[in-house]
Order: sequence, then structure tokens, then C-alpha cells
Amino acid sequence: MIFLILLVCLVCLLLYPALEDIYLLYIEKVPPGPISLPIIGGLYKLNSSKPHLKLQQLTKRYGEIMSIRFGPSSSRTVIIHNTKFVQELYNNQKALDRPDLPFFELITPHGAGIGSRPYDKIWMLHTRIVKLALHKVCQNSLSEKVMETFEVLFNRLNEKGNGPQDIAIDLKLASLDITSSICYGFHDDDWTSDQMNLLLKDHDKAMSGLSPFNPINIFPFIKNLPVRLVKEIKDITQRRDELNQRIYDRHVENYTGEVHDVMDIIVDVMENGYNTSHITDSQKKQMDLKSLFMTLTCLSMAGIDNMQSIMQWSVLVLGKHSSVAEKIFMELQQTVAMDTSVTTESRQHLPYTEACVYEILRVSSITGLGVPHITREDIQVGGYKITKGTQIFTNIWHIHNNSHNWTDHEAVKPERFLDSNGQLKLKSDEIFKNYLPFGLGKRTCTGEVIILNVLFLFVSNLVRTQTIKIDNHISELIGNCDMSHKPPAYKVTLNPRVCQF
Ligand code: HEM
Repeated sequence: MIFLILLVCLVCLLLYPALEDIYLLYIEKVPPGPISLPIIGGLYKLNSSKPHLKLQQLTKRYGEIMSIRFGPSSSRTVIIHNTKFVQELYNNQKALDRPDLPFFELITPHGAGIGSRPYDKIWMLHTRIVKLALHKVCQNSLSEKVMETFEVLFNRLNEKGNGPQDIAIDLKLASLDITSSICYGFHDDDWTSDQMNLLLKDHDKAMSGLSPFNPINIFPFIKNLPVRLVKEIKDITQRRDELNQRIYDRHVENYTGEVHDVMDIIVDVMENGYNTSHITDSQKKQMDLKSLFMTLTCLSMAGIDNMQSIMQWSVLVLGKHSSVAEKIFMELQQTVAMDTSVTTESRQHLPYTEACVYEILRVSSITGLGVPHITREDIQVGGYKITKGTQIFTNIWHIHNNSHNWTDHEAVKPERFLDSNGQLKLKSDEIFKNYLPFGLGKRTCTGEVIILNVLFLFVSNLVRTQTIKIDNHISELIGNCDMSHKPPAYKVTLNPRVCQF
């Protein structure tokens, strides 16, 4: 008898997600999608390495707003495939929070930074502080810092010889260097190679935790188990906290009142207080040094990963489409003074190069399924109910690679962003209607201003100094997608241009 009762309980437990799905889909009218299987939820419908493509296929059956359970989690995740719904949702204050991933409890024990905290007054203040710092960095020293890194990078790649190379790690070191310089004000020569390697290993481990497919996020109970994965994350967190404190102390000693990097503005805020009357005293208390460190960590994590990824995509796109690279070269030849590096001041004079930056961001769609939001209250979108606490992703890759939104969507055509006079189209132009590499609405990418400048410098100076040849046969620009959309693996031959202008 006991055995029978246990068996019935087990069957009910296994079938619970499917039964709940039937209630949610047919009674509550949440967005349509597959019914979950025991243990794996809706994962059986997603190819784990290319979920962006699988979800695109599922739109044919379920439409452009659908829901699916990633694992045996408590709720269905909504995935949006249409700009109109993204706009509607991400301008609604009830859909601007971030999910509290189980992994965050391990990696941000002192409270969340801007990337993962709710859309509240502290988020607004942190975001304002960071954006101010990034604008100052762009105005003051970005071109110089970035060009130093790229010079070292191109020299290193050329010294490696002229055979085909996998340059992913070199690009990662370059993005670590640029991001560390923007956030903390130091370059990689401040580190031993062992420290660099450990930092990168820690970074990769921490990033993997942000994926909805990380075991800790699918099976949250793991975070309470004495297993190696959990111990490693705790060690990383401790090392990171100690590093932040050391760098902060150094900045306090040397602070002159000028902001050269994001840590400088944190010192300024801690020394001079928060210059605003919009937050209450109890909110001010939450703005302590540790929460600002979390924001800085978040900025640095997003910076390293996204910068590396977009540089990897740029090399692939330009190497595969040599006519585009040659057009950039011609524009540079006609516009920029001979034998000088291209700086950010040249952006407005190089519309074709600028258009290439836009096109690379479109075809790569490096955030893939975007950064997840979560609803604070029940809301209605597209005639469906999205219940409180629902996680929402945007299939940015689909919006950017969809024949309804883009003519010749598979072609690399920077010209699409230029008007009949060869100038960059205005942001109000129809072409930008379905263009959302940095998201949309009230909670878009904090690093947009930085990355547009860095990418422009990378693309222009890469093409100015190198010829690029991809050695693999890569038929389409589609990669694997977990937390971000990574380019397919490739080897590239870079040769210094014989006559650089
Ligand atoms: C090509 C490069 C990049 C792309 C395509 C990109 C795209 C995005 C997207 C789509 C979001 C989510 C927006 C939303 O929730 O709807 C985001 C958030 C964010 N990005 Fe970027 N990003 C890039 C580079 C960077 C860099 C270099 C940094 C830092 C220096 C950065 C910092 C952030 C932060 C902190 C957030 C979280 C903002 C928040 O939650 O309030 N990103 N980014």
C-alpha cells in the first residue's frame, strides 16, 4: 500500500509541470508553446547549442510570442520574436526587473550590481554614475587606451607568423586589457601571466553561471551542496572581492578629483556622497561600496565577454567578405591622413566604416536571446497573459535575421544603413525599426557608447593595417548560443598590408 501511495506521489510529481502547463496555456492563456516533459521541461524542443534557431522554427507553430519551460523550474519562460512586443514590454516598468538566478546567490552575496538588480532607484543611480564615467572615459582617453592595446594585438598576431591561426584568446586578452583599463585604470602589463590566466579562468566560470542552461540555474538545490562547482564559485567570489578592494585602496591614495576610469567615479561617490535628493536615506545606505563593486564587476564581465565576441565576429565577417573590407580600406584611403591611426574623431567622416559596424552588430547579434527580464506583476501582451515572476527573453538574432524585417537578410550589406548620399541614415529611418543589438526600452545596454567606439576603432585599424583571410569553409554566419551568440570556430591568416597608406 505504501509503495502504491509513493508511486502515485512520484507520478504526480513527474507530471506536475505538464498538468500545470495545461492550466496555464488553456485557462490562464499564457503565450502558447510546447507542453513540458518530466525532468527536462521543454528542453526536448531546443537544440542545446543553437536554441536561437530552434526557437525561430517554433515561431511557425506557436507565433512570435511563445512560452516554454527550460527545465523543471517553477514557471514558463516567455520568448519574444517581434519588435512591437519588445517595445511594449520593455517600456513597461512591470517588465524591467532581472531574474534572480540561483547562481547570483553565490556570485553576488553582497547584493546585485546593475546587470542583475531590479529596476529601482538604486539601479537608476548606479546606471547614471556608470554612464557618466563611461562618457568621461570616451571623451578623455579611450582612443589612446584602445589604440595602445590594438597595436600590441596586431604586432603579436603578425609575430606569430603568417599561417592560419585561432585568435580567440588574443582577442580575449585585448578585451580584458581594454575593459580593465576602462573599469579599473590598468593595463595587462600590471599583471603576471599567471594572474592574467587566473583572472580569465575566473571570468569564464562566472560568465557560465549566467546561462539559463547552467546546472545551478536548472537545479537550484545544487548551490547548497558541498560540491566542487560550488566551492570554485565561492573561491572566485572571494578573490574578486579582495581584488576590488585592493584596486579601490590604490585609487583612493592617488585620486586627484579627475575621472579616468569607473573606479575613480566610485571613489568620488564614496568621498563626496551621492549628489541627489531623489533617493531616501535607507536607499542611500544600500549604495555602499560593496554594491558599487558589484556594479563594477558586472560592467567588467559584460565588457570582456561582449568585446571579445564582437571582435571575433568582426574578423570573421570581414575575412569572409573581402569586398566589404576593401571598401572600408578605400574609404580610409580617401579620408584619413596618411600613416596615422584612425581615432574616434574620424567616425563622422567614415560613414561606410560606421555602417559596417552596424551591419556586423546585426549579423552577429551577439547577445542571441538577449538578457532576460522578469515581470514584477501580471501584464497583458499581444492578447496573452504574462504572469508575475515570468522570465522573458528576446530572440534578437531572429529579429535581425528575418526576411520580413530585412531585405537580403543573409547578405552582409553595410550599404543598407546608408542614404542615397552615402551618409549614415538617421535613427528615425525605417531601417532602424527592427534594429536592437543593445536592446530596447528603458533598460538597454550600459556599455553602448563604449562598444560603438571600440568596434569602430577595431574595424578601421584592423582593415587599415591587415589583410584578412579566413581559412575554414564557413557557409553561414551562425554560431552557438548560450549566454551569447558565439561565432563558429575559425582560423584566420592576417598579413600586414605592404603599404599602409
Ligand atoms: C557588441 C557589444 C555589446 C552588445 C551587442 C550588448 C548588448 C546588450 C544587451 C542586448 C543588453 C540587454 C538589454 C536589455 O535588457 O534589454 C545589454 C545589457 C548590458 N550591457 Fe551590453 N552589450 C555589448 C557590450 C557591452 C559592454 C562593452 C559593456 C560594458 C562596458 C556592456 C555592459 C552592459 C551592462 C552592464 C548591461 C546590463 C544593463 C542593465 O541590466 O541595466 N555591454 N547589453
